[in-house]
Amino acid sequence: MSQYDFWRQKYLVKHAAQKVIGAAPGLYRLQERFKQLTGRWQQPASPQWIEQHARDTVDHLVQAQIAPPNYVVEQGTGWHGLDAVIFYLSGSERIDTYDVRPWLREQLVRGVCRCVELIAPIVASWPGVDVTLLDERVRRAREAARLPLRELLESMNIRYCVTSTMQRGDVPSGSADLFYSNSVLQRFEAGELTDLLAESRRFLAPDGSSFHRIDCKDFHSITDPRIPELYYLSFSDATWRLLTSKYLNGQNRLRLPHFLQMFDAAGFAAETPWHVLTQENLSYVRASLADHVELGEMDAEAAAISRFDILASPREAACITGERRARCA
Ligand SMILES: C[S@@+](CC[C@H](N)C(=O)[O-])C[C@H]1O[C@@H](n2cnc3c(N)ncnc32)[C@H](O)[C@@H]1O
Repeated sequence: MSQYDFWRQKYLVKHAAQKVIGAAPGLYRLQERFKQLTGRWQQPASPQWIEQHARDTVDHLVQAQIAPPNYVVEQGTGWHGLDAVIFYLSGSERIDTYDVRPWLREQLVRGVCRCVELIAPIVASWPGVDVTLLDERVRRAREAARLPLRELLESMNIRYCVTSTMQRGDVPSGSADLFYSNSVLQRFEAGELTDLLAESRRFLAPDGSSFHRIDCKDFHSITDPRIPELYYLSFSDATWRLLTSKYLNGQNRLRLPHFLQMFDAAGFAAETPWHVLTQENLSYVRASLADHVELGEMDAEAAAISRFDILASPREAACITGERRARCA
């Protein structure tokens, strides 16, 4: 069997296994439990990883010219809650972080709290951060590392909520300064995403921002470099639905123009302050996907963008964005 055939078959077998496990709630809960008990999520992330992730987060927020928010709503907390801790250090008074699964692990959040001295200089480089308050918060986060998860989060103004619904009834209308996610929106089904964006339009303050870092690559290409980053686009929608499970490693295949249209339909003015377009992906789209039905008339460059940030403002407030940026610069 050629190497090409081997990775392609392995790819299909992986999808088939995930589809079976994902189709049976009992099975995927068991699988999640197994992962929690045995997986790498038991070990706190290395200080180097935490520092790198923090630098990445702050760099992207600064590049998008987002001021440190007083009240932030996050979608997709993940395992260690690092971005929520970054917002706390930056001065946020309220951080509501939502996830569809209860991944957050006490020992991983503690690991982050033990590294706050490493994160602090990175947060201090974010224009608008009050460094005196930051010093105080570094001390409090260090102390919080000894507390049980619930109190630890509370002491850092973080409210963690696990729900599969898109309603955020406890977030008052027009109140949040920032709606934020990192590597999450590519996991939503299109209908869920439409609902979430409409809900975020309700709870964002008129001069608030919606900022999302989106990774639109085939997940399997991350663990197997033989798989082209946009390989998943080669399947028709019908085949993709057959292959994948919403519950296990689900991912939509929306491209940047789809996301921009969805933000627009939800009443936002959206832009893309950062994106990655490689020659390799562009050639792949041009060569392999030229006749792709679902991608239709989409510009090859737009379809080939694999990672990007979206910055959106409630539409009638879009005109004040420039003024707010001048304030935070
Ligand atoms: C790749 S992790 C990113 C976690 C975290 N934001 C970070 O940067 O480490 C994706 C997270 O999105 C969450 N998530 C939130 N909403 C989701 C949805 N509708 N479908 C799938 N996953 C979702 C997952 O449970 C998971 O915690």
